[in-house]
Amino acid sequence: MPCSWRTSDLQLLLMLTVFLVAECISASSNSTQQLALSGNLNSSQSPTEVNISLTVLVDTKTVLSCPSILLRNVVITTWEIFLRDKPPCIRAYRRDTNETTETNCTDKRMTWPDRPDQIPALQIDPVAITHEGHYRCTVATPDGNFQHVYQLQVLVAPEVTLFQSENRSVVCKAVAGRPAARISWMPAGDCVSDYEYWGNDTVTVQSTCHWADGNVCIVSCSVFHETGNWSRYIELNPGAKTSKTLIILYSILPVIIVVIVGFVWLLKIIGCRKYKLKKTEPTPGVEEDEMQPYASYTEKSNPLYDTTNRVKTSQLLQSEVDGMNLHTL
Ligand SMILES: *[C@@H]1O[C@H](CO)[C@@H](O)[C@H](O)[C@H]1NC(C)=O
Ligand SMILES: *[C@@H]1O[C@H](CO)[C@@H](O)[C@H](O)[C@H]1NC(C)=O
Ligand SMILES: *[C@@H]1O[C@H](CO)[C@@H](O)[C@H](O)[C@H]1NC(C)=O
Ligand SMILES: *[C@@H]1O[C@H](CO)[C@@H](O)[C@H](O)[C@H]1NC(C)=O
Ligand SMILES: *[C@@H]1O[C@H](CO)[C@@H](O)[C@H](O)[C@H]1NC(C)=O
Ligand SMILES: *[C@@H]1O[C@H](CO)[C@@H](O)[C@H](O)[C@H]1NC(C)=O
Ligand SMILES: *[C@@H]1O[C@H](CO)[C@@H](O)[C@H](O)[C@H]1NC(C)=O
Ligand SMILES: *[C@@H]1O[C@H](CO)[C@@H](O)[C@H](O)[C@H]1NC(C)=O
Repeated sequence: MPCSWRTSDLQLLLMLTVFLVAECISASSNSTQQLALSGNLNSSQSPTEVNISLTVLVDTKTVLSCPSILLRNVVITTWEIFLRDKPPCIRAYRRDTNETTETNCTDKRMTWPDRPDQIPALQIDPVAITHEGHYRCTVATPDGNFQHVYQLQVLVAPEVTLFQSENRSVVCKAVAGRPAARISWMPAGDCVSDYEYWGNDTVTVQSTCHWADGNVCIVSCSVFHETGNWSRYIELNPGAKTSKTLIILYSILPVIIVVIVGFVWLLKIIGCRKYKLKKTEPTPGVEEDEMQPYASYTEKSNPLYDTTNRVKTSQLLQSEVDGMNLHTL
């Protein structure tokens, strides 16, 4: 970029001196000498050309000038505009008839300035990204043709943001710039860059950095761009990681406590119920094991009970039988 500027500046300087010398000579002597200065060639076939690379900010107004030739010497001024994906547009102004003509020029943002008879320039207002391309102004004079060729580049300033993401890493973003911005960090960290290309020919550059050194507390991101430089800084939370885990712990701890208390309480309830059950109504299995020895003991140790019982029942039976006998009788 600076190189092309320098060369075009040099060419401009060269052309200026050529024009100055030519004008001096023409003033003193003759125009044929001008032709000689223009390269000793048939000037209508090899025009004097100046290449200019021009950068313009989007949404601004710009005016591309034609070679500065004394107006009374100008026969015709022509602009040829070559844009991407479009047929070339040609605009011409004839001084003798004071007429302008246009071929395939549909963009209303590109116009002659108010008075093409006075200022043979091209005005673009406002400039859009689609205006990037080649622009050639040819000024035809009886002494030859003079040209300005512009390489127009449209700049879009990125929107710069800096924020801390998880993990103690910091993200610096240059959103929708043209061309891509360059990002650098202070102090240098462990960084990863990402480029996101948009449909409108802008680029978002994102740099995500991480600093292993826990002592780093303030970091700054610098964004370098043709439209300007920006710097942003952010204070790193030194214990970002530990504090986060602490927060998580603090938020989880009550839940754990509640769960434990609840579990203990539940156990207690279950235990109580079991104890009570045991006390009031023992389970049948347990009853059999525990009661049988006792029952056998009573049976064995109390034979009298059985016999008396038997006697009683036999007596009862006997009386019943007697009763029945009485009835039948
Ligand atoms: C150039 O010189 C010729 C004769 O030497 C003269 O007739 C003519 O007017 C001159 N042209 C200019 C532009 O001075
Ligand atoms: C330049 O070339 C054209 C034809 O291409 C010719 O008619 C004209 O005379 C030439 N002019 C000079 C100064 O040689
Ligand atoms: C101007 O640029 C064009 C290509 O863009 C090149 O062909 C031409 O030689 C350049 N002219 C000068 C005087 O540098
Ligand atoms: C050329 O035409 C415009 C109007 O179209 C007029 O204002 C201007 O004065 C004219 N210039 C000359 C030099 O005749
Ligand atoms: C104008 O554009 C059309 C296509 O849109 C193309 O065919 C034509 O050749 C162009 N005219 C000129 C003079 O470039
Ligand atoms: C956290 O950082 C580590 C390495 O530093 C990385 O592998 C991981 O993807 C990061 N996680 C998040 C959520 O950024
Ligand atoms: C380009 O597109 C991006 C994303 O859609 C948008 O944010 C930005 O403003 C656009 N820029 C221009 C100059 O149109
Ligand atoms: C941006 O920074 C670079 C490098 O320090 C410098 O060369 C350039 O002039 C700066 N641009 C602006 C617009 O300040």
